[in-house]
Amino acid sequence: MKYSIPRGTKDILPADSTLWQRLESVCHLVFQANNCSEIRTPVFEKTELFTRSIGNTTDIVKKEMYEFKDRKGRSLCLRPEETAPVVRAGLENGLIRPDQVTKLYYIGPMFRYERPQAGRQRQFHQAGVEIFGSADPLLDVEVILMNVQLFEALGLMDLEVNVNSVGCPKCRPEFRKQLKSYFKDNIKKMCADCQERFEFNPLRILDCKEAKCQKLIDAAPASADTLCPDCKAHFEEVIKMLDYQETKVVVNNRLVRGLDYYNKTTFEITAKSLGAQNAVSGGGRYDNLVAELGGKATPAVGFAIGIERVIELLKKYGFKDPKSAQGLKVFVAAMGDEARKLAFDLVTGYRAKFINADMDYLAKSLKAQLKLADKLGAEKVIILGEDELKKGYGIIKDMKTSKQTEVKLDSLEEVV
Ligand code: HAM
Repeated sequence: MKYSIPRGTKDILPADSTLWQRLESVCHLVFQANNCSEIRTPVFEKTELFTRSIGNTTDIVKKEMYEFKDRKGRSLCLRPEETAPVVRAGLENGLIRPDQVTKLYYIGPMFRYERPQAGRQRQFHQAGVEIFGSADPLLDVEVILMNVQLFEALGLMDLEVNVNSVGCPKCRPEFRKQLKSYFKDNIKKMCADCQERFEFNPLRILDCKEAKCQKLIDAAPASADTLCPDCKAHFEEVIKMLDYQETKVVVNNRLVRGLDYYNKTTFEITAKSLGAQNAVSGGGRYDNLVAELGGKATPAVGFAIGIERVIELLKKYGFKDPKSAQGLKVFVAAMGDEARKLAFDLVTGYRAKFINADMDYLAKSLKAQLKLADKLGAEKVIILGEDELKKGYGIIKDMKTSKQTEVKLDSLEEVV
């Protein structure tokens, strides 16, 4: 019996894991530079946390949750996203307070039962930020800038920042009403999903990707036209400050996002070169979620990037292979028991100094060991043959220039 990986999941193999580590370290660096602190929450939560926050009529809650019962019959769910768990953990541990700004970040796996395709998996990873405690539009701008800073630090190019305002519970009913009356006569011509959305969540129609729905969607009313004075002023301030910061954005009135907790600002960053699944990150303001989940009313704003999609871009744009920075520095090739003992001594010494070092463990010939060193990309090889050992020295070979130098045995450790 051979086992295979579950559909929609991927192993991150050694050839890629250095790239993942690099990306994660840039996330830590950028988020911490913005004074955010890391939080880690369990990968499963009570199901109700997500139905309550993401919304009962969203695709995520209706079709995509990995829901299961534990042995006591409690309904649990693998987290499809991290905003709700961060709110839960923040409230439970007294981190979120209405009178103070709290900045948190996370990196980890999320789970959605979606149809797998390029850029879409069932287990995928996000890195994200959630900021609580202020309704200042400057924080919306800060969050967008942080996201842009992160992508710039990674060297990503050709990205488009789409920004919109979805209004608030005060002005959204009017927008819903206008959408319903606009789509009413043509809804039969639209896809089955849109027909359902028309009943329960007409805003989500704007996010439909079906070709046959596009024409109607293009001419639909825009949320910007129904914003209440408060939402309108907030949105204008966000756009003004983004402009002041010289951050190029596209105001996209079709941007409604797939989660129900948003109000006011929403944004998404897309990469054209990625094809159908081209959103590399998304986020926005969610001023009502903390109260919805049992806390005191506390405004909040955040975003998350899709790590797999960013990794795809880094590979495409020829991100400098991190192997050369962290690859094998030295390979110690040895013949004979005495030499092998010394080789092991040497690699242990190098490793203690965090110099990436390795040797042969398969009793290969000296020639085969040199071939292996080359295959592993070693910068230098130390050759410890029986003859050299007797004479009290080893040979250091520079793999790039092929230059060989004789070095006394007791100086070998310092030379590299
Ligand atoms: P989201 O737009 O659902 O937002 O996900 C954020 C990013 O995760 C997407 O832009 C995409 O890059 C990636 N992503 C989502 N689903 C998949 C998938 N099945 N396979 C691969 N990548 C995927 C959220 O999750 C919100 N919690 C973001 C947020 C934080 N809003 C406020 N704070």
